[in-house]
Amino acid sequence: MSQVAFSALASLLHTRSGLVLGPDKMYLVETRLGPLMKREKITDLGGLVSRISTAAGEVLAREVVELMTTNETFFFRDGKPFEHFKTAAIKRIHAARPPGQPIRVWSAACSTGQEAYSLAMIVAEAKAVLGDRKVEIVGTDLSREVLAKAREGVYSQFEVQRGLPIQLLMKYFKQEGQNWRLSDTIRNMASFREGNLLGDLRALGRFDIVFCRNVLIYFDQATKGRVLATIAGQMPADGVLYLGGAETVLGITDRFAAISGERGVYEPVGGAGSGARTAAA
Ligand SMILES: C[S@@+](CC[C@H](N)C(=O)[O-])C[C@H]1O[C@@H](n2cnc3c(N)ncnc32)[C@H](O)[C@@H]1O
Repeated sequence: MSQVAFSALASLLHTRSGLVLGPDKMYLVETRLGPLMKREKITDLGGLVSRISTAAGEVLAREVVELMTTNETFFFRDGKPFEHFKTAAIKRIHAARPPGQPIRVWSAACSTGQEAYSLAMIVAEAKAVLGDRKVEIVGTDLSREVLAKAREGVYSQFEVQRGLPIQLLMKYFKQEGQNWRLSDTIRNMASFREGNLLGDLRALGRFDIVFCRNVLIYFDQATKGRVLATIAGQMPADGVLYLGGAETVLGITDRFAAISGERGVYEPVGGAGSGARTAAA
């Protein structure tokens, strides 16, 4: 594989998605892009880079970026953040908002929707606490392919076996051959939109609670800082941010602070209402 072509590909990926493709990831390029290159009858990476550099290569460039993203996800991933959302965040935000004001939850980098739907199931199960409070769950991702699957709400046996409690499977899914289809009740609680975390996402509006998990790990420090600043700009002072287990704001931004005693849970810094989260939660 030519070093020049690899660097050009890495630069394209970084500019378009923030993903960092280190030299140790050459194998990934071969496994992820091999089938596409075969389909397009492109024999080497240099040929692919030349093709996507032309005006007519835009569609191919998008496809390359999507193929290079890692879409691993599963229901109730890591457990704890969802537990905190259920027992603390959603109740506190509900109590703090006037009647009639929807609570808005953002699953940023939502992949195939399991994170957003896990949150929707928690909200559905919390009806006794939330009453008729509307909770809007919005999932965004840069990959159109994962968004299409998220919208469909159909998961394989393997996917529903990863993290989804059996009672919720029985209650909210219907078996369709080898697959499981999510009920309309839960599916309609979440909507999915294309959204690049490097772009201007202000049109999405403000979110009380943000799950941005297992995506910052693929970015460099500067990009992490930029994405966290974008998120902070779209949250109220008393909002809650959840990051993945291997992610942190420490040394990256001072726009968020860890909520003490809660791994991976953060609050915006500086606005009125921030700073007293642990006791309130
Ligand atoms: C590993 S998945 C994480 C899914 C889910 N948040 C979870 O924790 O299970 C990472 C997702 O981030 C998306 N992604 C990568 N770069 C992105 C960007 N710049 N903007 C939006 N989504 C991005 C990928 O397409 C992928 O679906």
